[in-house]
Amino acid sequence: MEHPLVDDVEELGFDAFCEGLPLDDLDRLRGNKPVFRTTLADGTTAWNLVRYDDIATVLAASRHYSVAPVVVDLDQSAESDGSTERWELRAAMALNAPTHGLHKQRLASAVKRDRVEAFRTVVRDIATRFARSCKQKRRADAVEDFAAPLAAEIACSYLGIAPANRDYVRRLSANFMGDSLPDVAIGSHRDLELGACALNAVCGSPMRATTELVYESWRKVPWLAPEFVAHAGRWEIEELALQTITAGVAGLRNCIVTAIVCVAAQWEIAKSDTSTWLSRQSKVADEVIRHATPLLRVRRILATDAVWHGTTIRAGETLFAWLLGANFDPDTFSDPRGFQPFRTPNPHLSFTGGAHACLGAPLARMEVEEVIRAMLLEWTGLTLDAPPVRFTSNIVNEYVHLPIRVS
Ligand code: HEM
Repeated sequence: MEHPLVDDVEELGFDAFCEGLPLDDLDRLRGNKPVFRTTLADGTTAWNLVRYDDIATVLAASRHYSVAPVVVDLDQSAESDGSTERWELRAAMALNAPTHGLHKQRLASAVKRDRVEAFRTVVRDIATRFARSCKQKRRADAVEDFAAPLAAEIACSYLGIAPANRDYVRRLSANFMGDSLPDVAIGSHRDLELGACALNAVCGSPMRATTELVYESWRKVPWLAPEFVAHAGRWEIEELALQTITAGVAGLRNCIVTAIVCVAAQWEIAKSDTSTWLSRQSKVADEVIRHATPLLRVRRILATDAVWHGTTIRAGETLFAWLLGANFDPDTFSDPRGFQPFRTPNPHLSFTGGAHACLGAPLARMEVEEVIRAMLLEWTGLTLDAPPVRFTSNIVNEYVHLPIRVS
């Protein structure tokens, strides 16, 4: 289970994220404190790593750094019906070898590359429609009017959920990421249990209705591979729904807002050379996804003792691998805070790596490409009306508001 870090920890605690992403802190830590311990809200402690090479090593060594099972009290979760049922999240991200590999293999057919490509035209249509509607408004909130409903509608289309349920899906995703959209706020961020909210999104009551929505339609969705449709059981379809509705919507939402911030800063250049930006759209998308780093850190449990920079970490202890630290590490990325649209190579870790690397990455990348394409083709002008307002969290990177002007 994820726990937000408590306030009074010395490094990378909640307060460090109040003024934006603590990139200066991360630079300092990489230099003189590459491994350090923090205290969690439940009183336990966790180790932290912030350098790119260290994090890449941890992600690649999944047998030494396992993931933890997620068990949730549904009666504690955001939209419980008061039951005391306990749930074990049977998603890939909570499984270890060998079960993990078998499950992931079955799930992989749901997001096969050729199917992702077949879905591209649908995403293109949705992105174009939302870009045009923003242009008509002239002044819009990039989160409320563009990124959030657009991401939810794409997820609905992928799962075969009727567009009428778009706002419902959007709300589920907001629950997962922790009251990030003001109109659907639930409780306080500090109570957020990421696993519980994710689980609630598809399995919890009354969210079970969502699973039923998906069950009604997913077999008819043309971009799911026939081999997935033929063999998927309740487990696989629940996981697909969970990932698409939670990580898929929230991750894409953050990437879209990040795209607006980054591309707006280079708008004149991008518009004067749109054909290059479009022909190299996968590079542009990856650089946006690096800057977005929607999940700031991942959690692992040590299976055996390990020594990091002279410090011994014992088997059974918790380790946070800070993806944000890795993605802005100057030893791996030159000018890491700069937006270099064609950055090559760009080995960012926003989707992690190794055995637990994000299965939906090709889908997410394609969606980001299409949104940037729609912005460049549909908009002649793009300016930020005010600086973006961030959601304060040391688990996810999230925006709440970004007023923009579009022509
Ligand atoms: C921009 C959007 C997304 C981002 C940033 C993202 C990020 C991530 C990250 C960081 C992990 C690894 C967690 C870990 O290592 O502990 C992960 C795992 C996963 N993601 Fe995504 N994700 C996104 C979209 C999606 C979508 C759309 C799907 C589904 C279709 C998906 C399916 C999965 C699955 C199945 C796993 C578990 C893999 C495993 O544990 O082996 N993701 N994602």
